[in-house]
Amino acid sequence: MHFAQITGWGKCLPPAVLSNDDLATFMETSDEWITSRTGIQERRICHCNFSDMAIVAARRALAAANLDAAEIDLILLGSLTMDSLCPNTASIVQNAIGARDAAAIDINSACTGFLYGLHIGTNLIRTGAHRKVLVIGGEFISHYMNWSRRDVAVLFGDACGAVVLEASDEATGLLAAKIGCELDTGSAIQITNLGSGYSRLSDDFLYPDWNFEGQEVFKRAIKSMAFACEDVLQQSGLTVEDVNIMVPHQANRRILDALAKRLGIPEEKIMVNVHKYGNTSAGTIPVALTEALEESRIKAGDHVLMATFGAGLTWGAGLVKWGERITPLSISDAELPPCHQTALEILAPHIQRYNARQDK
Ligand code: ACO
Repeated sequence: MHFAQITGWGKCLPPAVLSNDDLATFMETSDEWITSRTGIQERRICHCNFSDMAIVAARRALAAANLDAAEIDLILLGSLTMDSLCPNTASIVQNAIGARDAAAIDINSACTGFLYGLHIGTNLIRTGAHRKVLVIGGEFISHYMNWSRRDVAVLFGDACGAVVLEASDEATGLLAAKIGCELDTGSAIQITNLGSGYSRLSDDFLYPDWNFEGQEVFKRAIKSMAFACEDVLQQSGLTVEDVNIMVPHQANRRILDALAKRLGIPEEKIMVNVHKYGNTSAGTIPVALTEALEESRIKAGDHVLMATFGAGLTWGAGLVKWGERITPLSISDAELPPCHQTALEILAPHIQRYNARQDK
């Protein structure tokens, strides 16, 4: 039996920063409300395509693993904000990085896309079907935002992260995972007016909007993530005392605090960056994992606990035993195309489009 060691990691944050005060210039909100309810202070707004972020994150992860893209045999891309439905976005990334021997699969399970991908990629390596897998998670959620909805728009941001998995004889990588999806909660988080479930003849078609039951999601998120974490600890024969660091989905600081309390994990063991980026959906865990490594918060042999939830409501947890590598073998010079606009300038036409529609 092979294991699937994480040998490379990388992140891509678009440079344009949207602060809480920026949001308050065009919607009825305040820094005080957003910070006290969510812990979020700012988020990034993408000025290019989602695949541009995925390509940069992938190149950085490959450099950290010192691998050529041609050595990768599978790309799994978790996101709900793909460049296009056809071709799939994993194939756009595969072409751009030159991963000529890689199959390319998009995974849409919303915020859980990265952990779902890590689980799938790990098990494809463990069966011997694949040897070197690139797992990417990220989101261009600002593209799908209804900027007149203050209850949703303040929560999200754009970002992407990636890891490289390589077959290894050492018992490292994702050693236990539990993923699932709740019944009867499909409408708790919905992006509407896009997709073949919506009539193309409707005036609302292609004006994405959100159904969002914030308080219901809040409660379910804590319950399902706690259940999944307890399950993977039990599978691994470990207790919370054995966890060196927890890298959870970053949706809301209050969810992280409540989850930590429920599991009995001290605050200092929780990786938190939601204040800087908001909820970047499938991007949160690979970006937070990369930053935990950059900040030397992960040591060789550490137990890293991951937990996630998202629309569906999908949920999951994973227990990773970290390998020897905690510093990148090399650094990529990959960068996004230059950005010449502020976040507010990037968003202005989208805000106007929604305002014009509301005025009709
Ligand atoms: N600024 C100011 N006031 C606001 C804002 C805002 N941005 N948004 C809502 N309010 C108002 C509401 O209108 C309401 O006013 P009212 O009392 O006059 O009706 C009041 O604030 C309180 O609203 P609540 O919804 O009760 O606020 P709550 O404390 O529950 O916090 C929040 C809302 C932050 C959304 C919380 O429920 C939450 O974080 N839920 C989890 C959602 C989440 O993170 N989902 C991520 C998954 S998304 C995915 O998977 C794609």
